[in-house]
Amino acid sequence: MIRKSLRNTPQIYAEKKFPSAALPQIGKPLRSISGASWKNRMNRLQDRVAIVTGTGDGIGRGIALAFAREGARLAICDLNLSELRETEQLIQKTGTQVLAVPIDLRDVSQISAFVERTVATFGRIDCLVNNAAVMPVVPTETIEPETVDQILQVNLRAPIIFTRFAIPHMRRAGGGSVIHMASVTGHLGHPGITVYGATKGGLIALARGQAVELAVDNIRVNTVSPGTVDSPMLHRFLAENATDIQKAREAFDRLHPRGKVGSIEEVAAVFVFLASDEAANITATDIRCDGGYGARGQQPTS
Ligand SMILES: NC(=O)c1ccc[n+]([C@@H]2O[C@H](COP(=O)([O-])OP(=O)(O)OC[C@H]3O[C@@H](n4cnc5c(N)ncnc54)[C@H](O)[C@@H]3O)[C@@H](O)[C@H]2O)c1
Repeated sequence: MIRKSLRNTPQIYAEKKFPSAALPQIGKPLRSISGASWKNRMNRLQDRVAIVTGTGDGIGRGIALAFAREGARLAICDLNLSELRETEQLIQKTGTQVLAVPIDLRDVSQISAFVERTVATFGRIDCLVNNAAVMPVVPTETIEPETVDQILQVNLRAPIIFTRFAIPHMRRAGGGSVIHMASVTGHLGHPGITVYGATKGGLIALARGQAVELAVDNIRVNTVSPGTVDSPMLHRFLAENATDIQKAREAFDRLHPRGKVGSIEEVAAVFVFLASDEAANITATDIRCDGGYGARGQQPTS
């Protein structure tokens, strides 16, 4: 069903982008959610200013839209300009303000300029979501140093640098919430994505240290670790690697004790919670949002 080399690697998403029209439509595509459908606005983030990275599509887009639904003003960025513009338009339909800037997270000067532009536009920063990541699938034995550098720069260095530049503005705003996107791969071993997993484990350790360091400034730092998510990434992976897409999808579902993978909306809801005052006493924490996947043990069958 799935190529042998990847069979034990449930959390795969390739760097290669597939045109959306070519994707198998499993579950509800996020871009079908129009601004008009956001009816349950609760305003938990009213007028807060949030930076969300990697908002071109997928979970980042879902987080940005969930924040917009709660009344936040958004500064969003991605490498992919056309998808970023799509997210910008979806946010505009919710009636909230949005600043959308194409940037490459491997370039420190672009991160710095984006943070400054956010403050020039909105006057403050209350929340930073480091969501963007890359996950090339390469065994340790053959990985090129350049690939290692790329993964580390996007997945780990960029969150560190973003936090560095955001801290003075959060301090001036009286505090803030930094949320790094980790993964169940930061807790478990997955062949082929060891460096990716190391960056996710690194983010969990990073958040713990930053949380203790920044508590004095009322800046909370946490991570979220999803299991597999029903996202364009999963659709891309199935399209690339599965001979029977439906069967492969069901195998992913069975990996999760609750019997199905997570949805983008379920992951985004955890980010909204951590950004809100409801999480005022939560810092240095990793919240698993994986339907029990990361806790699952194995019983011998015979
Ligand atoms: N999808 C899952 O099953 C899953 C599970 C656990 C954790 N995660 C994490 O969730 C986050 C989002 O994943 P996703 O599934 O939405 O993936 P995705 O590939 O759809 O989204 C990642 C986004 O980051 C952007 N990006 C990549 N490199 C960049 C760069 N150099 N500069 C700027 N932007 C860049 C991409 O253009 C893309 O829009 C990632 O951190 C991922 O590790 C995903």
